[in-house]
Amino acid sequence: MNILVTGGAGYIGSHTCVSLLEAGHTVIVADNLCNSKRENVEKIMQITDKEVTFYEIDLTDAKAVDVVFRNYKVDGVIHLAGLKAVGESVDMPLAYYYNNIVSTLVLAKACQKFNVNRFVFSSSATVYGDNTLPFVETMNLLPTTNPYGETKAMIERILADISKANPAFSVSILRYFNPVGAHESGLIGEEPNGIPNNLMPYITQVAKGKLEKLRVFGNDYPTVDGTGVRDYIHVIDLAEGHVAALNNLTEGVHIYNLGTSQGTSVLELVKAFEEANSIEVPYEIVDRRPGDIALCYADASKAKRELGWTAERDIIAMCRDAWRFEKNY
Ligand code: NAD
Ligand code: UFG
Repeated sequence: MNILVTGGAGYIGSHTCVSLLEAGHTVIVADNLCNSKRENVEKIMQITDKEVTFYEIDLTDAKAVDVVFRNYKVDGVIHLAGLKAVGESVDMPLAYYYNNIVSTLVLAKACQKFNVNRFVFSSSATVYGDNTLPFVETMNLLPTTNPYGETKAMIERILADISKANPAFSVSILRYFNPVGAHESGLIGEEPNGIPNNLMPYITQVAKGKLEKLRVFGNDYPTVDGTGVRDYIHVIDLAEGHVAALNNLTEGVHIYNLGTSQGTSVLELVKAFEEANSIEVPYEIVDRRPGDIALCYADASKAKRELGWTAERDIIAMCRDAWRFEKNY
């Protein structure tokens, strides 16, 4: 199939392009490079030895999006493009609502106009809020406390309504847990701007000596060692989840958790990283980060049952691959 990957130059998008190409699909990337680099598209081609068509466009620009759909017979869309920094979304709500919502509306309209009926969307575990654990797709969603999370919940509803009116519009909503790691080539990986907000890139930068020490946000949560617990998933497993979702898409709306169903605490991740890479990660315990929940992990059994997909790579592989990319980068 000819798959349009929005945000394909970014962290998860670039790995998803690799998995799509390896599965035999043709890939067209649309990205405005607001949080990524053009070289990533070249690296996707280098890894797979396959061609990728690249459009540097803003998805809120309906005319530019139309050109892509006119030039290619698009069989399906994987929509990853979006702004994603939780804290920034609190300071710049309008930018987040505008970018994430309008780009989705423009894309959905183009799909309707050009009769494209396969749509896979990047959602987030954040839509569960502070629900009971593990998070299951059938749960009522809770407020997310930040505009970024609200855009994900709103887009899920928008896509569901479109599909309700036209069931041929087949939608797969993928709720990612915590993607980490990198392609084993070390060529593509996570490249945060400035000081990382997320744990794994912070750890790799401390290990490299770019940052002095990790600040562990709280050790008084009701968890195994008091530090926050998350469901870390290797970005390659996540990328393969997109291919499984696309290949198994049927009419209507389908929601899948993409996680490992396993929780790992901050200190457990630090220890695994030190063991996997024989390198020390100095840390100190500081106050809790506002807005954090104690635990977040998936019940990922639906994706296994319906898509035949399970995450296979363990925490050690995640730490090793994240470090290889950081060293190369
Ligand atoms: P990323 O920033 O690396 O990739 C997003 C890409 O979208 C970037 O290349 C950016 O340039 C592009 N983009 C943004 N707005 C655009 C627009 N208007 N037009 C064209 N391109 C635009 O982020 P990522 O970590 O790869 O995340 C991909 C998707 O997955 C996002 O939708 C994000 O919200 C979602 N997600 C990420 C995580 C995570 O922890 N990384 C967790 C859950 C969900
Ligand atoms: N943490 C630290 N120190 C740091 C960074 C993080 O102790 O410097 C802790 C956090 O308190 C939390 C855990 O590490 O307990 C993970 O934090 P991240 O910032 O890496 O990830 P979050 O779970 O907070 O959020 C991420 C994405 C969201 C997404 C969510 C989905 O940033 O966009 O996963 O589960 F919605």
